[in-house]
Order: sequence, then C-alpha cells, then structure tokens
Amino acid sequence: MNYTQTPQAAAPELSDIQGLIINGYTHPCSVHMLFKFDNNISNLKYIQDFFKDLLPYLQSAEDWGALKPEIMLNIGLTANGIEIVKPSLNVQNSSFPSTFKKGPWDVNNAQQSLGDYGTGAPDQWWNQKFSNEDVHCVVHAYAMNPTAQEKIVGIITDAALKSNGMVTELKPLESESGRLEQYLLVPSDYIHFRYRDSIDEPNLNDNPAGKDQQDLNNFLIGYSTLPNPIPGPLSGPEAAFAKNGCYNAFRILYQDVEAFNNFLDTQAESIAPQIKNTKDYAEEWLAAKMCGRWRNGSPLVLSPDKPEHDTSKATDFGYLKDDMQGLKCPFSAHTRVSNPRDEGVEVAGSDTVPRIIRRGMPYGPPLSIDPKADRGLIGLFLCGDLSSQFETLYGWINLNNFSNVFDPAENTPQDPLVANRIVPLPGNIDPNFTIPMEDGNNIVIDGPLPQFVVTRGTAYLLLPSISALTAIANGEA
Ligand code: HEM
Repeated sequence: MNYTQTPQAAAPELSDIQGLIINGYTHPCSVHMLFKFDNNISNLKYIQDFFKDLLPYLQSAEDWGALKPEIMLNIGLTANGIEIVKPSLNVQNSSFPSTFKKGPWDVNNAQQSLGDYGTGAPDQWWNQKFSNEDVHCVVHAYAMNPTAQEKIVGIITDAALKSNGMVTELKPLESESGRLEQYLLVPSDYIHFRYRDSIDEPNLNDNPAGKDQQDLNNFLIGYSTLPNPIPGPLSGPEAAFAKNGCYNAFRILYQDVEAFNNFLDTQAESIAPQIKNTKDYAEEWLAAKMCGRWRNGSPLVLSPDKPEHDTSKATDFGYLKDDMQGLKCPFSAHTRVSNPRDEGVEVAGSDTVPRIIRRGMPYGPPLSIDPKADRGLIGLFLCGDLSSQFETLYGWINLNNFSNVFDPAENTPQDPLVANRIVPLPGNIDPNFTIPMEDGNNIVIDGPLPQFVVTRGTAYLLLPSISALTAIANGEA
C-alpha cells in the first residue's frame, strides 16, 4: 500500500480517519467488544480474515449524509495487538510512545498518574476474567436499535468464530452477556449520578498548522508541528502505520451510585442551614459544586445559584475574570480540574491545558431498575499523546497541584467526584472537599470522601487509519 508521510501536512483526509475520532456518534445502542488474538504467526491469515469481515462496516469520518448508518463499527488495537497483526513493526522496539507500549497497568508509568488501587487496581481489572495483556483489540459497534445491535454483534461474533480459535472474544462483565453494552438512560445524554454529559468537547479545528490544544492536529498522528505534545510515532514504518490514527484510553469506570446518593443526602442535612436553603436544594447544590456544572449542565460560573435552561449546554466561559476565588465553582470541581480553561496552570514550566475528546457512554441499568447491577461509564478518552493529555489530566484529578489557585504550602486536594482516594504520587493529599464561601466561612466536607468511581479495566488503544486496517485485512504483516 502507499502510505504518505507529510511533515507539514495538508488537511486530514476524512475518508482515511475512523469516524469516532471526529464525530460524537449519537446512536442509541453500542457494544464495545474485546478480543484476544492467538500469537502464532502461522495463523495470522485467520486474524487478517477477521479484519476483512469487519471492513464493510468500518465507519470513516466522512459525512454520512441525511441517514445515519444503521450499523457501523470502529476498531482499536493495543500495542500487544499490533505486535501480533503487524509483526514487521516490532512494536516494543519501535518509536511508539512508551506509555502505549507498556500499557495502563504499568506501575512505573501510567499508574503514577492513574493511581488505581484496592478493588480498582490493575490486578483486579476485567473482573479478573482475563489478564490485561490479553486485550489485543476492541471493536466499538454502533446500532440504531436493539435489532440492529444484535445484527452487528452477530456479524462480529461470526467473524471471530470463523477464525479457528485465533480470535477469541473476552467478556469482562459478570452480567448475562458479559459485554460492555451501552445503557440508554433517560434523558439520553445523561450518565449515572444523573448529570448531563458530553457538553464540552474540543472543537477539532482542522487547521494543520493550528497551535491550539483543541485543534485536530493535536489529536491526529502525523500532523502536529508543535513542540508539545506531538502525536507520534513520527519516524520509521510505525509512523506510516499510525498516520491518521489517534489514541483511545478505553477505561471502564464503575460508579457507586448508592454511595454517591447517600453522600449527597447526608451532607445536605448539615449544608442546608449553612446556605440557608432547603435540603433538596442543598443536595443539588453540592452535586453542582462537585462537578462544576448543575446536573442539567449549567456551568456554575454562568449560573451560580440555580440551574438554567439557557446555560445548560454553555461552553463559552472562563474562570479568570469571574471566579478566581472559587466562590462560584470550587477549584477542585471535576470540570474545573479537567479543563481549567483560563485559570492559569503551571506544570513543569508549561502553561498548557491538555484537552481530550470524550466519546463515552453509560453501561448498566440505573439503581432504581436493578440495585445489584454493575453500572458506570464506558470511557473513551481520545488523545494524540496519552501521557501529556490523558495521563496529565488524570494526575490533576488525583492531585490538584497544577495551578496557583492551590497553595503549594498546603496539602493537595482532589477532584471530589472522580479521584482515586489513594494515589502513589509524592505529596500529601488533603482528603477534604472545600467549598469557598463569600462570607469566608468555607464549607469543608471532611474526607476521605467515599470512593465514588472504581476502575474496572483500562486498555490503551490506537485507532488506526482506515488504510492501515485495510492493509492488515489484505495480508500486510
Ligand atoms: C465516572 C467518571 C466520570 C464522571 C461521572 C464524569 C462526569 C462529568 C460531567 C458530568 C461532566 C460535565 C459535562 C461536560 O462538560 O461535558 C464532565 C466533563 C468533563 N470530564 Fe468527566 N467524568 C468522569 C470521568 C472523567 C475522566 C476520567 C476524565 C479525564 C481523564 C474526565 C474529563 C472530563 C473533561 C475534560 C470534561 C470537560 C470539562 C470542560 O471542558 O469544561 N472525566 N465529566
């Protein structure tokens, strides 16, 4: 095949880029299927045929017109997966970034930022039904309705079954299907914990020389000319293979809805008199202070006192002019930590705010339907550089030490919603959640807060270009 390597690249070819990278799909159904490949090179043909069977459904980033495809899919490969399907690249000795090669479980690399521990520790992932190293490929299948979902899952399963045992599906959940299936909550853009999600995303401006962190060249491999980060690899045959690809930190996050509801309920009792309002209001107020947005989506900076319809999807706001005391949005609120905007950040001499593309969705039924069920977020966090984008943000979530709004002489607070409460990073954690108040009587919720989110598994995937996947299907090893 004919790969082209352009240092100062032209506009990206949408027909060669997997659609998931550019477009937030709104299909009501999706299943995220994990696969293991046999690593006996003499059987590679069977794995290549698996890809061949999937190719007709592989969705590119090109406009699909008026009608959404009823079924479609995208494909991600881990470093171990690439090692098997593209042995010529010799991945472990290649210039692929080391965090991708080592994987999200590596205690000396990714885990330094991700900080998974206890029941969320890497040796507990995937309900211990298979090992982290076994995940070679994830097929993200999308469908317009349950019947169509069955059809696309059937196509993918048949393709694996035809492989003579060379492609094995791994089923990570204890549920009946064992698969990571999207659960459509009502309203459809809400997640467990009852917040609206997927409001603010990078604009993915496709200016190839763009210097903004949210430009597409900051996510797509083979375009960036910026010093930091440069999505890579940028040299050797691996650069040609990875061009037009993007990384996906695929992370399954269990959400303890019961613990979260109980926490809001208990804390609201004592907060209500302090803010001179009802307990019901105090509950919603606390949920908003933890997130940075009211549950309907209104950002606290724009709607400090109550959720408002007009601001429920607002993205145009900052902290510098309006909220440098954190009186509207606490410094540690989840959205303020994961995108501090103009607050000013200072990390190792860089003032860059990393951006990530979020393409996740909920799994598992709500508490009201099945209290015992597993539920949470199927997190797809896309980035051009896992370390400086995804892992940096995770480090900030776990330890809020990235900005002058946090006093370096004090202990370091955490994101109250998502953080792992014990992290292996140096520094002392302030386990409390502090909500600055106008009268100076800050509300301090004593920690450690309950562990609301527990990691169930993580895979670092490359979402290769359509041409790279086609080459695999056509037998290029
Ligand atoms: C179960 C875990 C999580 C929950 C419940 C959650 C919830 C939310 C909610 C409700 C929003 C506001 C909606 C929006 O701005 O689109 C949000 C925004 C966001 N989250 Fe999360 N999140 C979770 C995990 C994560 C993780 C692990 C990361 C990063 C590694 C992350 C990064 C972000 C970012 C970047 C934003 C947008 C902030 C902005 O641009 O203002 N989230 N999240």
